[in-house]
Amino acid sequence: MGIQIAPSILSSDFANLEAEIARLGDAELVHVDVMDNHFVPNLTLGLPVVEAILARTDRPVDCHLMIDEPDRWAPGYAEAGAHNVTFHAEAAAAPVRLARELRRLGARAGVGLRPATPVEPWADLLPEIDMLLVMTVEPGFGGQAFLDVCLPKIRRARELVSRSGLDVWIQVDGGVSAETIERCADAGADVFVAGSAVYGAEDAAAAVTELRALAAK
Ligand code: DX5
Ligand code: ZN
Repeated sequence: MGIQIAPSILSSDFANLEAEIARLGDAELVHVDVMDNHFVPNLTLGLPVVEAILARTDRPVDCHLMIDEPDRWAPGYAEAGAHNVTFHAEAAAAPVRLARELRRLGARAGVGLRPATPVEPWADLLPEIDMLLVMTVEPGFGGQAFLDVCLPKIRRARELVSRSGLDVWIQVDGGVSAETIERCADAGADVFVAGSAVYGAEDAAAAVTELRALAAK
């Protein structure tokens, strides 16, 4: 698939989501952070808001579920029409069953890994999923500093995916900016989430273009 930029609306103006998504230029995806104040100490939005977003944009929606009990809640996002639905490895009771259910409902199934969660247990399960999300901050908030200690895990994820011969995307999320994106790309990531780096820029579309160019270097 190649490099994809997925701006996170967490750093956008929540009262103007339609316009905020429209100004993302040629970003391949729009990343929507769902937080439940249990899995992470923050609360954002849920399925009704995602449904409203889906009704107002043709851009593929990439849902990042930072929630407990994804086995119960994640299928609703796939049913609603999300392109990617990512649940967290630490929260899922039956990740293979859940990934199969998401795919059955027409979504790509993603698995998120917090900084302290190893990627190795997923080596044999790669055929069941479409994306590995390697978090480069502790999930919960935008604008945090990039954790360089997560880079070796991106590299190991890339090795596992290459060895498998499967088209599993490797997404990186947290502190991704013009300063850090080259390191992520070099380690093997191909889908880049950026919240503050895009919405904090005066021209969001230009920031997307700049990030993509740096990732492709
Ligand atoms: C954080 C979220 C991220 C967040 C990234 O837990 O998963 O998607 O929006 O924000 P930045 O790019 O500002 O670190
Ligand atoms: Zn996210």
